[in-house]
Order: sequence, then structure tokens, then C-alpha cells
Amino acid sequence: MFVQNFMKPKIVILSGAGISAESGLKTFRDSGGLWEEHSIMEVATPEAWKSNPELVLKFYNERRKQMLKAEPNAAHTALVELENHFSATIITQNVDDLHERAGFKNVLHLHGELLKVRSERYPSLVYDIQKEEIFLGDTCEKGFQLRPHIVWFGEEVPMIVPAMELVAQADILIVVGTSLNVYPAAGLLYHAPYECRKFLVDPADNLTGKVYNLEQLKMPATEGIPLLVSRLIAEYPADENN
Ligand code: APR
Repeated sequence: MFVQNFMKPKIVILSGAGISAESGLKTFRDSGGLWEEHSIMEVATPEAWKSNPELVLKFYNERRKQMLKAEPNAAHTALVELENHFSATIITQNVDDLHERAGFKNVLHLHGELLKVRSERYPSLVYDIQKEEIFLGDTCEKGFQLRPHIVWFGEEVPMIVPAMELVAQADILIVVGTSLNVYPAAGLLYHAPYECRKFLVDPADNLTGKVYNLEQLKMPATEGIPLLVSRLIAEYPADENN
């Protein structure tokens, strides 16, 4: 007997700073590679932490405050709708919590999270912080300095292997709001199966012609993501037994 496979597709979303741009959080590239007038070398590397930890802590305290003032936008909300219809996972390079605050459950942060800090000496000692700021002298339970739970440039990306495995099993890959400039995150795209349907939502032209089976919605995330989500839901209507 021929049984058609109506299994719903597995969807993976790879998001970057562009999806948070319309929530008022500046992207790295659009601000000319500066964050609040700081170069990454001054605030986002292990060397910066060694030479000027106060500046690094102040920088991330500022970004945390800015993030808590921002709200999820229509793109974040539309992705929650997608998760209600499909098995979907977000792999994000963003350190903000806008995907979670919009209600998305399966989020994998490649580059860490602003709402977490960790022991400088025991990286497995990770602590949730909400509104608080952290300062020199704030220590973990073993008495060592707390640092932002952020992957700085030049540091390992511990979550890259689970991320690669997720992309390797995707039936649909949606890339939104990332210039794909920063590796290893940028390399994830090439771990998608050849036949995987790929979509890029970004007003800029980062990938056309470079990737097989990719369709670009050349528009901002708050237009492109809701459009794509309603298209995919219409294409795979929910049937009664799943
Ligand atoms: N909607 C969709 N895409 C947008 C929008 C928008 N409204 N505005 C900007 N973009 C796109 C830009 O065209 C660009 O391709 O978002 C992308 C932003 O690129 P980057 O600023 O380089 O951000 P990202 O790719 O996430 O950076 C990767 O580098 O900044 C460091 O570690 C940090 O995780 C970050 C990594």
C-alpha cells in the first residue's frame, strides 16, 4: 500500500541582529561595526576583558538595559505562530531575549545571552540575572569574578555542534537578519541538506546566486517573516491526525 508521507517539515531558523533591528536594537553592521562607539576589540574579546574589565562590564550592562527597553516585533511574533504549526527551532546569534519574550520555546543561543552571567574561573557556573548590572567584585559562589555569558570574538562557540546537527536535519531553513560575516555561525548554512528549501529574509543581497534552492524575500523581517510564515502554514495545512 502506498502511504504518502504527510510528516510536517522540520524547520530551522538562523537569526541575526537584523531581526531585532526593528525593535530598536542596532545591528552590528549598520552601526559601522561599532557598538555605542566602541570597537569590538575594546569590549568583546578576552584581551579587552583582561585589560579593562570595568569597560567591558559597563558595555554589557548598557546593552542589557537597552534590550530590556526593547519589545519583540512582528517578526518575532510570527515565528511563534510558525512554532505552533511545525517542529521549529531557532538558532540565534543574538544575545537579546526577544525571541523568548515573544513566546518562542526552542531557542539555541550561539553567542550567549545578555540575561546570563558566569564565573570567570568555572564556566559551568552560569547565573540568570534580570535587571541587575554586574560590577567588578561581584563573584560566583566560589568567590571568582562574574563575567558576561557572551561568546567573545576569538572564543570557542560551544553550541556550534548541536546547531550543525539541527541544520543538517532541516527540511526548511529560514535565514533572517544576518550578514553571515561571522564564523562559525555563518558556515551553518552549508550544513543544510542540498534539497533543503532555504529562505533568506533580509533587505540586503547577501546570498543570491551563492546557495542552491534559496529564495530571498528582499524586505525587512517584520514584512518578510509574517509573509513567509503564512505561506508555509497554507502549504502544509494541519490535518486532523497530527
Ligand atoms: N530586517 C531584516 N534584516 C535586516 C534588517 C531588517 N529590518 N535590518 C538589517 N538587516 C540585515 C542586514 O542587511 C545584515 O545582513 O541584518 C544583517 C545584520 O548583520 P550584522 O549587523 O553583521 O549582524 P549579525 O550577522 O547578526 O552579526 C553576527 O557578529 O555582531 C557580531 O557577535 C555579533 O552575533 C553577532 C555576529
